Amino acid sequence: MNVILIAGGWSDEREVSLVGARKIHEALNELGHDVTLFDPAEDFKNLLSLAREADFAFINLHGAPGEDGLIQAVLDKAGCPYQGAGAAASYLALNKAASKEVFQDRGINTPDWQFVTPVQGRDTELELELPVFVKPNKGGSSLGMSLVKRAEDFPAALDKVFAMCQSALVERFIPGVELTSGILGDEALPLVMITPKSGADFFDYENKYAADGAEEICPAPVDEAVTRTVQAQMKVAHEALGLSGYSRGDFILTETGETYLLEVNTLPGMTPTSLLPRAADAVGLSFNDLIARLMELGIG
Ligand code: DAL
Ligand code: MG
Repeated sequence: MNVILIAGGWSDEREVSLVGARKIHEALNELGHDVTLFDPAEDFKNLLSLAREADFAFINLHGAPGEDGLIQAVLDKAGCPYQGAGAAASYLALNKAASKEVFQDRGINTPDWQFVTPVQGRDTELELELPVFVKPNKGGSSLGMSLVKRAEDFPAALDKVFAMCQSALVERFIPGVELTSGILGDEALPLVMITPKSGADFFDYENKYAADGAEEICPAPVDEAVTRTVQAQMKVAHEALGLSGYSRGDFILTETGETYLLEVNTLPGMTPTSLLPRAADAVGLSFNDLIARLMELGIG
């Protein structure tokens, strides 16, 4: 097949996208496909015509813009199939605050939150108990995120977000371990448990992408009941957001066994240290098998 591999883009996660794309490129070649690389940050205006000529587009963009449904909308116009969620579902899922409303609506626990815009400004009152996370409402890879432990640090954390994104999500800090739950087709993959190293308070950018940055165990060594609950909630979240093909949800498991869903990623990272390929590997799917399966699901 003639496949366009769409990667790069102009979000803060550009580098993560390009690293993952190298692996995907190799896999597509090994699967026998002809690959054309397309970086929207360099050549956006040719996407529609290129997509009309292609058999499939594999999208590996992260963050906004990129993971927000824009590329998917252009591909829909061209009638070019792609893997994963469609345009509207991508738009909703990338918006953390809007997604959290959907989770709550479906009875899924999510940490309390506050949504802050530049109109409200840096001096807006903090409505949640400290500590809180302050993060871009449409970001990823923990970029621009701060763990705020003292009220006086709140305005600076908002400044940091407003410098890169139009709105901030302020979220109650829930102590616990992080569990990620992948969906592939109709199946919930085994959970991955993450313990950040190097004294980090959370799974930050460095821990996410350094080869020895975090300890990631799959299947997660947690009670069977926790696994079943998280996988069931993930399936509900995936369906409620209107996603298709695959997705990965990030949860916190507390010491007392409560779980909280933080967010769902519609284009989960595909770098050598990323979590969804790892969960797929645990059920016997190699990276190449995963790419082939995603294409099959995308073609439908
Ligand atoms: N946003 C990154 C790529 C992830 O969720 O894996
Ligand atoms: Mg994310």
